[in-house]
Amino acid sequence: MFRSVPGAPPDPILGLSAAFQADDRDDKINLTVGVYCEADGSTPVLDVIRTAEQRLYDTERSKTYLPITGSPLFARGVRTLLFGDDADLAARSAVADTPGGTGALSVVARLAWVTSHTTTVWISNPTWPNHRAVFADQGLGVQSYRYADASGRRLPMAELLEDLGRANAGDLVVLHGCCHNPTGADLTPSEWSQIAEVLLARGAAAVVDTAYVGLGDGIEPDTAGIRILAEAGVELFVCLSFSKNLGLYAERVGALVTVGPGAEAVHLVDSRVKACARSIYSNPPKHGGESAAIVLTDPELHAAWLDELAVMRQRINGLRSQLADQLAGAGLDLCPGVATGRGLFSLTGLTSDEVVRLRTERGIYLVENGRINVAALTEDNIPLVVDAFARLRQS
Ligand SMILES: Cc1ncc(COP(=O)(O)O)c(C=O)c1O
Repeated sequence: MFRSVPGAPPDPILGLSAAFQADDRDDKINLTVGVYCEADGSTPVLDVIRTAEQRLYDTERSKTYLPITGSPLFARGVRTLLFGDDADLAARSAVADTPGGTGALSVVARLAWVTSHTTTVWISNPTWPNHRAVFADQGLGVQSYRYADASGRRLPMAELLEDLGRANAGDLVVLHGCCHNPTGADLTPSEWSQIAEVLLARGAAAVVDTAYVGLGDGIEPDTAGIRILAEAGVELFVCLSFSKNLGLYAERVGALVTVGPGAEAVHLVDSRVKACARSIYSNPPKHGGESAAIVLTDPELHAAWLDELAVMRQRINGLRSQLADQLAGAGLDLCPGVATGRGLFSLTGLTSDEVVRLRTERGIYLVENGRINVAALTEDNIPLVVDAFARLRQS
C-alpha cells in the first residue's frame, strides 16, 4: 500500500513559517501566522487559564476518560456563552466538547457523510482553506458561494443569496460566526436574517464556524448571528474554537453545539454526534476542556477573562486603525477592509507575484493570497510594511 500512496503537498502556511525561520535577515517580518500575538511576538498563556489550571491541578484526582461529549460543566459554560439564560435555546441544543474547532467541523463532516452521501457543503469564497479539506476529504461535494473579492471587500448580498438559493434540502452552508478568515469582513444582523430565510426556504442546515468569539466586537455581538439563525428555527451546527480566545491552541479545545427547532430532533442528531466522535477520537482531551469549563462558569474568572479578551481585541483593532491610516497617508489602496474588518485577518489585495517579491526582496512574509495577521503587526513594523508596499507598487 505505501508505495501506491501519492504524497500530499506540504501545508503552505507551515511551509512559509519554516522559510521565515531559515531567513537570516534581521528585519524580516512574519505576517503569516494564524495565532494572536503580543507586540514582542509571543502568544502568552492567559492569566485566567493559569488560575484554572492551578485549580485543576489542586483538585483533580483522576484522569479517567470523560464522557464522549465531555463534562456537564463544559456544556453549561458553552450554552451560557452562546445563549445567555435563554431556556428555550438551551432546551433545544446539545453540546459536545471536541478537540478544537477542527474537531467539531470533522464530526459534522463525518455525520453528514454517514447520514447522506449526497450532501453538498457550501463554503464562502474566499474561506479558511481547511474548510474544503475537512469536508472534501470526508467524500462530500463542496461548492462555494460568492462572499468577497480578492482585496477582501464584501460582494453584494444579492450574489451570496443567489448562490445559497441553489442549495438543496439537506445541504450544509458553512458561515463564519465572526472575524471572517481571511477577510475580516463580517455579516450584519440583517444579513444573518436574510441568510436564515434562504436556508429555511431551501431546507439547508447551517454550520457556523466560529473561532474568534470575543476578538471581534465582544462576546454578545460576535455570537449574534448564531442566535439569529437559532431563533429563526434553522437547523444549526455551531463549531466553536477556544484556541484563540482562551489561548488554548495546543490543548485542543472546541465545541460542537447542535441546535434544532425541537428537543427531540436534537436528541437524535446528538446520538449521531456521539457515534461519530466515538469512531474518530473516542472522547475529548481532558485538561484544556476542564480548564475552559472553569473559566466559563466561575463568575470571577469569567469576568477576568472578558478583561483579557478586551485587551487583545483593542490591540487588534488599534493596529487595524494604524495600518489603515498609514496606508491612506501613503496613498495606497491596499487592505481596503482593514479599518472596518474584525479579528486577526485582513486581505491586502496584493497579487501572489507581489507576495513573492515582498518575501524575497524585503523579508516580509504574507500568505500567498495576500492575507496578513493583523496581530503580528506592531507600532514599529507598520511603517516598514507600508514602505515595502509603497515601493512594490511604485516599481
Ligand atoms: C475559520 C477557522 N475555523 C476553525 C479554526 C480551527 O481552530 P482550532 O485550532 O480550534 O481547530 C480556525 C483556526 O485557525 C479558523 O480560522
